[in-house]
Amino acid sequence: MSNPTRCPVIHFDHHSPEHAKDPVGAYRALRQTHKRGWTEAHGGYWVLSDYQSVFDAARDDDLFSSTREAAGTDGLAIVIPPTPMYHHIPIEVDPPEFRKYRKIVNQVTAPAAVERMKEMVERYTVAFVDSVIEKGECDFTTIIGVPAIVTIDWLGLPVKDWKRYADAHRATLAEPQDSEAFRHAVEVELPALSQQMWDTIRARRQEPKDDVISFLVSQKVDDRPITDEEVFAMVDLLVSGGTGTTASLVSQALVWLAKNPDVRQELIDDLSLLDRAVEEFLRVFSPTQALARTVTRDVEFHGCSMKKGDRVLLSWASANRDEEQFENPDTIDIHRWPNRHVAFGIGVHRCAGSHLGRFMAKRLLQEILTRMPDYTIDFDALVPFHDQGTNVGFRSIPAKFTPGKRVLPLSEAVIG
Ligand code: HEM
Repeated sequence: MSNPTRCPVIHFDHHSPEHAKDPVGAYRALRQTHKRGWTEAHGGYWVLSDYQSVFDAARDDDLFSSTREAAGTDGLAIVIPPTPMYHHIPIEVDPPEFRKYRKIVNQVTAPAAVERMKEMVERYTVAFVDSVIEKGECDFTTIIGVPAIVTIDWLGLPVKDWKRYADAHRATLAEPQDSEAFRHAVEVELPALSQQMWDTIRARRQEPKDDVISFLVSQKVDDRPITDEEVFAMVDLLVSGGTGTTASLVSQALVWLAKNPDVRQELIDDLSLLDRAVEEFLRVFSPTQALARTVTRDVEFHGCSMKKGDRVLLSWASANRDEEQFENPDTIDIHRWPNRHVAFGIGVHRCAGSHLGRFMAKRLLQEILTRMPDYTIDFDALVPFHDQGTNVGFRSIPAKFTPGKRVLPLSEAVIG
């Protein structure tokens, strides 16, 4: 795949330690020099960093495939380099086949379905804040486990293991592939948890419950019953999509608000501002920084001579700070509107969980701002993810606040 004749050739690796130090600066430099370019890293790939080319590529599934067949790999086709993970449906399926599956996923992620989840989100959000509120200090990464526990409970997987699922998926996407944490996640945790998923899928076929896996096993594809393999591929994607992304969004927002007390006070005084603030946090923090596609035929695309089989990185994060699309893109303006960010992607694969993600992020921020309004963060002790190439976020966010009272009785505070 490596081909130095491709122009322009750029020095870029979204998984490098230099990139992890300053992803925003790295993408800004790219946009200023080569909005689109070819890097030799990881066997070679095109990098699209401007809004227009990311937008055009994400909307052209004929030319830019999301499948493993096109990528010629066993690993997850929508990341570079391909990462060992189970096949994911519908994110690794192209239209028209894609539509049969997305139709099913939409039924459990549409606004009406999120409405039915509100009580669960509410209960876990209050319980997680309760679990630390009397101490006056905590690691915020504990509280932002709410999206992960909600996802695991909603799917119907054993709630006690919510953190194992979240940690294993985070390590697979945000630890260096030569690290012990990555190896443990891929070789030990993911196989053990997948066994649990298979067991749950088979159990729900026998005895359905009121959960997403029971709904999925009851579905049809092309008038035939959906297979266990198809259900597994959807459930594993929902775990992957649901556990880390919203947590990343909330954690980055909390760190930024600690540094910007005036804006924090503005939100505390009027929580309705959270609607637009969350859109702005999505734009500037882009929890999923970039995802990949594979070129399906030789083509000239925005001045680049792409060849069939070339891998292409679409940087949502960079598109979201493109100065041609957003005025003062590096200014975080919680009133910004309209805000046509692509943090949830764009095109047919646009995030199926966007309604749930937004709702959980707002509810968590609201709870923290209301019950810990004076929180401070020890910035020197912040531990960011080693790798900021695909998912950005923190492994540790030490925080202090004035202690408060629990809301729920201790007996109801089951958080696994
Ligand atoms: C702030 C939160 C979130 C962000 C930033 C985010 C980001 C994204 C992005 C960028 C994509 C596009 C993938 C592509 O084009 O290849 C995507 C797809 C997807 N996301 Fe999310 N996501 C979030 C929350 C969630 C949640 C809570 C769930 C489910 C519980 C979820 C489930 C999915 C699924 C199933 C897809 C695949 C859709 C398809 O291929 O049709 N996401 N997400």
